[in-house]
Amino acid sequence: MEHREIVDDATIRNPRLGEPAPPFEAVTTHGKLRLEDFRGSWLVMFSHPADFTPVCTTEFIAFARIHSQLREMGVELMGLSIDSVYSHIAWVRNIEEKMGIKIEFPVIADLDRAVATKYGMVMPGESRTETSRCVFIIDGKQVLRAMIYYPLTTGRNMDEILRVIQALQTADAHGVATPANWRPGDDVIIPPPGTQDAAEARVKEPGVECTDWYFCKKRL
Ligand code: BEZ
Repeated sequence: MEHREIVDDATIRNPRLGEPAPPFEAVTTHGKLRLEDFRGSWLVMFSHPADFTPVCTTEFIAFARIHSQLREMGVELMGLSIDSVYSHIAWVRNIEEKMGIKIEFPVIADLDRAVATKYGMVMPGESRTETSRCVFIIDGKQVLRAMIYYPLTTGRNMDEILRVIQALQTADAHGVATPANWRPGDDVIIPPPGTQDAAEARVKEPGVECTDWYFCKKRL
């Protein structure tokens, strides 16, 4: 793959985890939408490089297939690329006609790159004209909770996107953390105690399995 010189725009500060997601108003396939319109729901906002490209088409179909599961988890879904709304409309109609999958989520037509720039979705080392495969997971208070980036040539894994949301929602609901490769139903990690007394208490806590004072798990 060709590697290009990367010129960073020092005025652009990429979004950061745990901070408010950058607000926007955008033209979409469902009309004008603002980030604010999603307050109270979680939101998965993802970018794709371009309409009418094969990997992106497989991703749109895959996102459409998890759309109802996301909704059951209180999560809305929205796509984005630097294409016109007419291109988006033609592409989603083509996906329905040729592949039999209806795309029900809105897609931002970010022709002026306003949203892509705020979220740092264009990676000049990959492409100066397309957004990379970015996934932003935003909670109901509009705080940015996770960001996942994939290169142009790699289609995304829907199981991982679902798993990250399930892990975040479990952490929020129970004040716990989740170990590597965690799946819903697996034991969770109890954050380590911060004092000697708490460490003493932790290893005696009922319902908690400790390998050592800092490494304790429990079943929810
Ligand atoms: C694709 O979606 O097929 C694609 C888009 C940009 C670069 C490479 C592949």
